[in-house]
Amino acid sequence: MVREIVVYPDKRLKLVSKEVVSFDAELHTLLDDMYDTMRAKNGVGLAAIQVGVDIRALIINIPQENAEGEGDQPKENTLEMINPVILEADGREKFQEGCLSVPGYYEDVERAKHVKVQYYDREGNPHTIEDDDFLAVAMQHEMDHLDGKVFIEKLSFLKRKKFEKEWAKRLKEA
Ligand code: CO
Repeated sequence: MVREIVVYPDKRLKLVSKEVVSFDAELHTLLDDMYDTMRAKNGVGLAAIQVGVDIRALIINIPQENAEGEGDQPKENTLEMINPVILEADGREKFQEGCLSVPGYYEDVERAKHVKVQYYDREGNPHTIEDDDFLAVAMQHEMDHLDGKVFIEKLSFLKRKKFEKEWAKRLKEA
């Protein structure tokens, strides 16, 4: 089921999400709904707080080219990360980012190039994963949401000022 996306500057995006303690049916329904919502909005990742639930859960599904040469995001490719923690982070790299909570806005953000992350799956089994490409960027972006941070907070002072002005105008016109 597609849920409503929480859009900036909604104060819920500033919440520090709580640790998940029960890996139950409610969590599974939330993760399924997050997938439906991400697909409906053409995203590649989503944190639970972006559908208004302040728990430390996120999903990522980086499109992979299918036989027709189109980006495909089958559900089985979805990385579901519960209570993720960064174990290692090194290097720096800039990537263009966007966010379903700041729809239509894209900007370069600098983050660690390589990260190693520990997390739990929906059944509560522990895993570690590492990456030094787009998945590394996506994990850092989504994990920031769990700590109440949105990517625009990483912009330079001038870019942020310009963004806030344009965003205020857009919200007014909407
Ligand atoms: Co985001």
